[in-house]
Amino acid sequence: MHYAANTLENYWMPFTANRSFKQNPKLFVRAEGMYYWNHQGERVLDGSSGLFCVAAGHGRREIADAVARQFTEIDYSPPFQFGHPGAFELSRRLAAILPDDLNYIFYGNSGSEAIDSALKISLAYHRARGEGQRMRFVGRERAYHGVNFGGISISGMVRNREAFGLGLPGVVHMRHTWLPEQRFSKGQPEAGAELADDLQRLVDLHGADNIAACVVEPIAGSVGCIVPPKGYLGRLREICDRHGILLIFDEVITGFGRTGKPFAADSFEVVPDMITMAKALTNGNLPMGAVAVRDDIYETIVNAAPDGTIELFHGYTYSACPVAVAASLAALDIYRDEGLFERAGELSPYFLDSIFALEGIPAITDIRGYGLLAAVELAPGSAPGERGAEALRRLYEAGLLVKATGDALLLSPPLIADRSHVDEICETLRKVLGAL
Ligand SMILES: Cc1ncc(COP(=O)(O)O)c(C=O)c1O
Repeated sequence: MHYAANTLENYWMPFTANRSFKQNPKLFVRAEGMYYWNHQGERVLDGSSGLFCVAAGHGRREIADAVARQFTEIDYSPPFQFGHPGAFELSRRLAAILPDDLNYIFYGNSGSEAIDSALKISLAYHRARGEGQRMRFVGRERAYHGVNFGGISISGMVRNREAFGLGLPGVVHMRHTWLPEQRFSKGQPEAGAELADDLQRLVDLHGADNIAACVVEPIAGSVGCIVPPKGYLGRLREICDRHGILLIFDEVITGFGRTGKPFAADSFEVVPDMITMAKALTNGNLPMGAVAVRDDIYETIVNAAPDGTIELFHGYTYSACPVAVAASLAALDIYRDEGLFERAGELSPYFLDSIFALEGIPAITDIRGYGLLAAVELAPGSAPGERGAEALRRLYEAGLLVKATGDALLLSPPLIADRSHVDEICETLRKVLGAL
């Protein structure tokens, strides 16, 4: 596509230093496989799957064709009181790869909407069971659950909360799970399972029967890949079970093979009551988010309403939009046919060994990683985030795209990566971070 874009003025960019960007723009104009090309014609290796979403790599013909076919067959269908076959087929396909009895899928357009849907479903579920007083949510420090009011309320990143008022009432937070003694632990750290007891402390303080749900990312992703200590998630599960609290895993980043299994719930062998997903759900090619719930949650809400009446007063104009569904079905076909989840699991030891071999570069204070997700933490500069932003810029100029959060650099390559791409990522990191 060619645009007569001789102005950068009117686009208000999200999570961006707009004034700096417009002085020194970084535009991607083409993408294929593992690479982007920028407006200066330079090739940039995609070390972050775009924004953790392009699991099958860029420019997948199969997805483009499926979406084009869907456009000409049925472009849009109203999701309230009407359906289209693709939505049922996608739900069947997702239920088949989701753990245990997480068999019912509710759709939105993003991770943020998936999270807010999960919170609302939790409240509706308890109300349908006659426990409508369960209104509190438990989140965690340093969590990221998107940017809508529910999501920022349960999240734990100060910059995403401080400008936006009071958020949802009744939300409380557990401590995050990073401890100094975990520095440079590859995979799950040994120390820290007892941090799950924060949930019990909140139960003791607020009363178990006031808490609707506890929401965590199995691996805290956006904040810099904080991997759960061994035993931590299992302990959360036990405390939730003891007190009738729903456990929600936000798998917007970890879903679809990032940990070497379909979901992180499979990798860590802990089954939550709901899983939120987005991003790689469509290979990042069209907006879509979803929340999967256990049979009992769906049945309780649906059976509580009188026959012929709407059971859950929630949904979006683009819930299970046909073209996004087509993209998702085509992405799932690629994941299955190319064995990408298994491939990620097989590449993971090489990827992690290569990233952890960067230990010793003076600017690096910690490295964390699991599956094909890793973070390199830099010693802060004069202000928090300044060093991370400088590293992001220099890496981009050296031909590598990473995601920076504060002074952490996140690596999350597409699952089609091979060892040569891992080598290219690590050589560029070594060269650029070594010179910081
Ligand atoms: C764990 C998690 N939840 C929710 C979201 C929000 O997703 P979206 O940006 O699609 O709203 C993100 C985005 O990075 C995420 O990482």
